[in-house]
Amino acid sequence: MITVKFFLDTANLDEIKKAFELGILDGVTTNPALLSKQSGSYKEGVQSIVALTGGAIVFAEVLATEPEGMIREAKEIAAWGPNMVIKLPMTPAGIQACASLTKEGISCAVTLIYSEPQAVVAAKAGAKYIAPFVARANEVGVDGIETISKIAQTFQSHAIQTEILAASVRNGHDAAKALRCGATSVTLPYGVLMGMMKNPVTDMTLNSFLDLWNSKSASGVF
Ligand code: E4P
Repeated sequence: MITVKFFLDTANLDEIKKAFELGILDGVTTNPALLSKQSGSYKEGVQSIVALTGGAIVFAEVLATEPEGMIREAKEIAAWGPNMVIKLPMTPAGIQACASLTKEGISCAVTLIYSEPQAVVAAKAGAKYIAPFVARANEVGVDGIETISKIAQTFQSHAIQTEILAASVRNGHDAAKALRCGATSVTLPYGVLMGMMKNPVTDMTLNSFLDLWNSKSASGVF
């Protein structure tokens, strides 16, 4: 079993149900934008995911923007499931909340990471995970994969245990590249995860093998 963690980046219950049937997922990452597409309150949205994923890791982000509010919400969210990770934005307030919550034993992920300096600060605050964004970085002219690679080098030099969770991933090649360059986990939208298993040549080869078997007389015998 490999130690790389795979998360599903969604709040859609149908997608979660289908993807978890694969048996390869470690959990689900959500954010306010993803939860806004679901019915019910924020808490109901997150708790439905917890209920569906039976003890898997579930990431949920605070909505407050000041440290006190973040800490209050984080403590509430931490009680919504057995394996919650609190997402905090990469802001001074988020860092303050991360340092304080980590000291209390609450697992935090600092999200919205776009640079190596941000990653180092988040690690220093004790973040269990940092989430560097790949596609959104590329969209503003910053190479998201290169940023991950630099962060990984720094973490390796100092034996920093903070996990690098590649986020904002739009295709399987970027997911694989992020892992090659030092990400320790990836979070994948449902379509990206399913796309990672597809290759037209695989289908072609499979069909040709089965066609050959099925053309044999008495092919129905297993
Ligand atoms: C991770 O949990 C992030 O919220 C997510 O990957 C953001 O991705 P997006 O660029 O698809 O919004």
